[in-house]
Amino acid sequence: MNKILVTGGTGYIGSHTVVELMESGYEVIIIDNLSNSQIEVLDGIEKITGRRPEFEKIDLCEKETVENFFNRNRVDGIIHFAALKAVGESVEKPLEYYHNNLESLIILLQEAKKRKISSFVFSSSCTVYGQPDKLPVTEDAPVKQALSPYGNTKQISEEIIRDAIKTIPTLKAISLRYFNPVGAHKSALIGELPVGVPLNLVPFLTQSAAGIRDKLKVWGNDYDTPDGTPIRDYIYVVDLAKAHVKAVERLLNNKEIPQYEVFNLGTGKGNSVMEIINTFEKATGMKVNYDIKGRREGDIVQVWADTRYANKILGWKADTPLSEVLASAWNWEKKLRNLK
Ligand code: UD1
Repeated sequence: MNKILVTGGTGYIGSHTVVELMESGYEVIIIDNLSNSQIEVLDGIEKITGRRPEFEKIDLCEKETVENFFNRNRVDGIIHFAALKAVGESVEKPLEYYHNNLESLIILLQEAKKRKISSFVFSSSCTVYGQPDKLPVTEDAPVKQALSPYGNTKQISEEIIRDAIKTIPTLKAISLRYFNPVGAHKSALIGELPVGVPLNLVPFLTQSAAGIRDKLKVWGNDYDTPDGTPIRDYIYVVDLAKAHVKAVERLLNNKEIPQYEVFNLGTGKGNSVMEIINTFEKATGMKVNYDIKGRREGDIVQVWADTRYANKILGWKADTPLSEVLASAWNWEKKLRNLK
């Protein structure tokens, strides 16, 4: 059985990926420093899969601790999620973001080289495209100047992997550029756990519907889109997780693939903020109270993925209907708040 190290495996996308890996027969070991996730996530994973993944609380910036981990554990592949991810906070604390997100990646790649690990999957973001000139956006679209230190860490990380891998003949890597991940596992045993007031649309919406937050603020309805609100490609987190299993399989089993590849992970379809609100209301029977506000600084107008490359090469497609995805987010919120 192949053993996969999942860094950031107690986080939102990480935990869903751990479940999909385990259900596909992989052995999983998680490293997380629990700076933005909780150890109880392991209980949820165990309830879903019937097994508890191995876990070590490690900060990936501590080189000696990481070396020691690899001395004790043999792994066949790495999926690297662990990173700081709050856009606004990254503007306040750029050095912390550059240090944490880049140092951890460098240390992991050094270990992958030393231990001759064959497979590395990196958690990247559609933020690297900025506002693309052509939609849907393909993987070869130009990378635009990042709008935040967070976004820049994703761009620089991709460059580090691209350059480093040329000097590591034993290693192959895939960067996965996520569009907007939403929803929760259908069991409602794992899901997104935002710290403080959520900044992302769907967690704010579900918390607002649960009565924890005031009205949802719609950041602008005067954009050049059909209903005036911005458009994103909202992808179900479980569909996203499944793409990681496909990526790992490709790296472990295919000897003839390029040494480094990049894939968009989205649905291929864009939805506006108003469409999200309307679909949520229909799917859950809940009423969403909202106010239209001014535009949020840094927001782009619209982006959605061209997913043909991932569909063809990974043999993967995100096909969960949006209504089901938003219902899963609501079920998770209800479970968290003990609502009926
Ligand atoms: C944000 C991050 C991006 C990250 C992604 C997924 C920024 C600039 N980008 O993308 O790097 O990869 O999250 O975690 O923060 N909206 C409202 N009201 C709200 C919240 C959001 O109207 O209370 C709107 C936004 O204007 C936007 C859409 O909902 O049009 C989605 O926003 P959000 O969920 O924050 O994701 P992004 O901004 O696309």
